[in-house]
Amino acid sequence: TLKFEDVKHLMVERIPSRILNLLRLIGSYGEDKKMPVYVVGGFVRDLLLGLENYDIDIVVEGNGLEFAKYASKQLGAKMVEHEKFLTASLFFKDGFRIDIATARTEYYEKPADLPQVDISTIKKDLYRRDFTINAMAIKLNTKEFGLLYDFFDSRKDLKEGLIRVLHKLSFVEDPTRIIRAVRFEQRFGFKIEEETLRILNETLNGGFLEKVSGQRIRQELEKILEEREPLNAIKRLAQLKILKHIFPKTYFTSVMEKKLENLFNNLRIIKELYKKINVFYSLLRILLEYYDIDTLKKVIKKYGIPKKFIDEIKATETRLPPLLNMIKYKIRFSDIYKVIGKPSAETTAHIMSYIDDEDSKEYFVEYLKRVFSTKLSISGNYLKEKMNVKNSVEIGKVMNELYCRKLDNPSINEEEELKKILEDET
Ligand code: CTP
Repeated sequence: TLKFEDVKHLMVERIPSRILNLLRLIGSYGEDKKMPVYVVGGFVRDLLLGLENYDIDIVVEGNGLEFAKYASKQLGAKMVEHEKFLTASLFFKDGFRIDIATARTEYYEKPADLPQVDISTIKKDLYRRDFTINAMAIKLNTKEFGLLYDFFDSRKDLKEGLIRVLHKLSFVEDPTRIIRAVRFEQRFGFKIEEETLRILNETLNGGFLEKVSGQRIRQELEKILEEREPLNAIKRLAQLKILKHIFPKTYFTSVMEKKLENLFNNLRIIKELYKKINVFYSLLRILLEYYDIDTLKKVIKKYGIPKKFIDEIKATETRLPPLLNMIKYKIRFSDIYKVIGKPSAETTAHIMSYIDDEDSKEYFVEYLKRVFSTKLSISGNYLKEKMNVKNSVEIGKVMNELYCRKLDNPSINEEEELKKILEDET
């Protein structure tokens, strides 16, 4: 296939005019500064796939920081420099952002399987990227605006639906690409190319993923959780035994899969109830269930998870069996409250991942809504002053009993109910 192709017509057709104009301006600044400038990576991939993507990554042959300064001035955008990496981000008033990088050539100066002469800087920059589908560039300079640079047959892989590394050491140099390969494969319904899969397995068996910091692995897993169908990618991670290299004591069974399926199906309703949920922690609640404490401690340290995670997962593990029965038999809310109280979003996700029948699910959601909406209008002070109860332990007990009664029966008269409670006690 051709290495260069004019795709201006595609750009005009598919890119919103606001962004297209911006790209044209950036190209004209390239002319001004006499620097070749390109849009690269995911933006180009998605343009060819006909998918929306407004993450603009610019690569400049020359001093990217100097170019960014010039562009930010011309465009009236705020610039944030990352000097160490020779990159900068431009922020527009409406929050829109573009990233500008200097073409990087420091690695793979002499890749064995490339001719050693006349390799352009942009080609080297593209060569150090993760997969062929992410390694295309479109030139933006005015005269060549819209010229696609495809050195590695990326378009062929896009057409055939293949995830392919650019060279043999790609996964060794950055083992997080093992996880990325699965993410892109599942996102686009592609397949990891045969030789790439072989290298992936080799790298996996070489223990390279274990050398990566938890922080970086966590980032890649979190990106999977932002995908439209995270479960597909997680299943594939399990199938390719990648998951075992991340969480060595997790057994990915059909039961586990069902729980994860429930988790992802329930996220919407849990978000409605809680506004916020940490999906990563919720996932780990399931993946790390029944781990021994020592391994759990190691895992939470590696992935930067708060210590209280251990207490919460263990507490939920012991409460689950009775709780699930109580929900199934629709035992009154006050009794459920005594077991689980007002659970966190992540604990709710954990519990609900075990609930397979709609009836039980409905009952538990009803319980949560009731717990969130039930507030006492009487305070402990009322007991102290009007009813002459002085002992604070006693006050706590009575107030809790009152709350429980209101959970079961929201229409009670609190004052009257209080009197009954106090009478019952004596
Ligand atoms: N990249 C890489 N190796 C990595 C991470 C990123 O080579 N471990 C390269 C890829 O070529 C990618 C670019 O850096 O195109 C930008 O990375 P990122 O924004 O993470 O990926 P996108 O391709 O933009 O993916 P997405 O569609 O998920 O935003």
